[in-house]
Amino acid sequence: MGEPTLRGRDYIETRDFSLIEIEHLLARAVELKADFHAGKLTARLPNQTIFLIFFDKSTRTRNAFEAGATQLGAHAHFLEPKSLQISHGESPKDTGIILGQMGHGIAIRHDLIPGMGNAYMREVASHAEVPVINMQCDVDHPTQTLADIMTIRERFGDDLRGRKIAVTWAYAPSYAKPLSVPQGLVTLMPRMGLDVTLAHPPGYELMPDVVDYARTAASEAGVKFEIVDSMDDAFEKADIVYPKSWGSCELMLGKRDAADDAAVARIEAECLAMNVRFTDWICDARRMKLASEDAIYMHCLPADRGAEVTDEVIDGPQSVVYQEAENRLHTAKAIMACTMRERPF
Ligand code: CP
Repeated sequence: MGEPTLRGRDYIETRDFSLIEIEHLLARAVELKADFHAGKLTARLPNQTIFLIFFDKSTRTRNAFEAGATQLGAHAHFLEPKSLQISHGESPKDTGIILGQMGHGIAIRHDLIPGMGNAYMREVASHAEVPVINMQCDVDHPTQTLADIMTIRERFGDDLRGRKIAVTWAYAPSYAKPLSVPQGLVTLMPRMGLDVTLAHPPGYELMPDVVDYARTAASEAGVKFEIVDSMDDAFEKADIVYPKSWGSCELMLGKRDAADDAAVARIEAECLAMNVRFTDWICDARRMKLASEDAIYMHCLPADRGAEVTDEVIDGPQSVVYQEAENRLHTAKAIMACTMRERPF
């Protein structure tokens, strides 16, 4: 069978892609990383334009897409809704049609309110005649998890059978973080052959359809998927630990119907007050000793140091967070090059 063509495809959830298509993207990311380090030009999208719409803040994703577009010979426009007619109520249909007429790709981050971001970008995608790429929504963060599996393979190789990833909640005081990273991990990692243990305190359940999908994916792949309520249990003999915070979905759902900014702020304060009940959910040296001797520590970043993780662990020899962050660049380029591309690899 030949290589799949992804040209023109939206990249909204990894669930939308077959394993062969995911492997194709990963192979292109590996090539693009090697070319980058060899100083080779990779201008696969000359004179193309991608529009980046950010409803939320970003360091890694924005810069992976902006630098990545430049490295592909394309140009990225950074757009914030507050300076677009979106803030006056322009519809996703109009935004999708019009930006699609003017460029070659649209990427969107809309992640903070459950029930909104994924629906928004799918609506844009249904009207845009160019690929729409999810830079993080309420359901999935598929450019992050592609970089994560690339990083895991760099350490453990492509055959991950028998290895275990612990995806666990961790305490954070900064803000109620989206559910999309843990959800993206539990949907993708069983398909890639990893046993997955998800751990969180009561009240931090992931979206039910995501958990159902993870169970089915694990069963089809012949790997394990379990949910526990103890960080220690999850860490036990794990090869990969991925502790990060997320907000209570039930509380965050209230933001969807909040009347004004003050109501949103009240819900945010409730989320943080709930987090404070679980300050002992931290990744520290004691917990790292529960994991396998050669276990790696991962985090999508930004991490709340001293809350989600100690400095000793995140700056320690088992941490791969900077390698993981760099891989955001190469996977973003692979996704743009394969979906927007005009020149074959
Ligand atoms: N991991 C991640 O998505 O980082 P940013 O929020 O900085 O883009």
